[in-house]
Amino acid sequence: MTARVLSGVQPSGTLHLGNYFGAVQQHIELATAAGGPLSAFYFIANLHTLTSVHDAARVRQLTRDVAMDYLALGLDPAKATFFRQSDVPEVCELMWLLACCVGKGLLERAHSYKDKIARGLEPSMGLFNYPILMAADILIYRSTVVPVGKDQQQHVEMTQDMGQSFNAAFGREVFVRPEWRFSPAPVVPGVDGAKMSKSYNNTIPIFLPDKMTEAQAYKAFFASIKTDSKGVAEPKDPNDTLMTLYRLLDPKQAEEFAPVYERGGVGYGEVKQRLHQAYIARFGGFAEKRRAIAADDAFVEGVLEEGARRARGVAREVMADARDAAGIAVARSTHS
Ligand code: TRP
Repeated sequence: MTARVLSGVQPSGTLHLGNYFGAVQQHIELATAAGGPLSAFYFIANLHTLTSVHDAARVRQLTRDVAMDYLALGLDPAKATFFRQSDVPEVCELMWLLACCVGKGLLERAHSYKDKIARGLEPSMGLFNYPILMAADILIYRSTVVPVGKDQQQHVEMTQDMGQSFNAAFGREVFVRPEWRFSPAPVVPGVDGAKMSKSYNNTIPIFLPDKMTEAQAYKAFFASIKTDSKGVAEPKDPNDTLMTLYRLLDPKQAEEFAPVYERGGVGYGEVKQRLHQAYIARFGGFAEKRRAIAADDAFVEGVLEEGARRARGVAREVMADARDAAGIAVARSTHS
């Protein structure tokens, strides 16, 4: 069995440092290490976005933005298959086959569904069936490793169940068992010290909004990082929010600086400046690359098209096998 890393990225607006250190960085590293584009699949989960966004222009924009983000941050389309979920319509077909093999009770136990409802999202059937679509995403490419955040662990476990139920129901090993994999990164704190998350409004974006200057960025994102009120001379906690972010942005400099910080003699303002400089050093180059990519529509579309071609090739084969196992006939001449 060949190993295949796969993950889906929900386009949800501006990527922030929590997304980067918690997911994107690992995706890109795994793609580089995977050994060829057929070993690493990443897709933009635009169909999943419809569970929360009903605005065509916005869905298009979000989809394109996250594609550009990934390419700018170093996802190499020669080393990974990068595509849009909607370019492989077979996932929706597989979703139905899986839906017929999964108990309603399993879906009712989904934490993420319950959380979203509790936060006031409309309980559409799409939201309820979200884990089945995700299972189809994973199973249709016979993925073996699925890098995800903790919040998605249960969805991957449900995928294991669904794949197994399908195989058992039809007496054929159509699907392989995927395993989830967490990012080794620690939780990334936001500017208020809580976990960085869009829903907490405490994020630092990877790419600055259009026209924002670095001086404005300093004010908006770094100056506002919450600290206690220790004076310059006082010893400081080398594991506070500032230092945790510093370690992520520039591990080497942060390690050198930690003893100085602990001893006292530097103020929070100075550390915030250091943090901002480390941020520019880390992401400034990517921002430039992103501007170049944004000016080249054909490049982005070309990458996604090539990815879709490859991904769909795999999906068609697996789907044919799944249909066959279930006794679903299709006219040969209509299916390549
Ligand atoms: N639900 C995932 C998230 O919100 C995105 C996703 C969709 C996904 N399909 C997937 C992740 C398949 C991994 C595998 O982050």
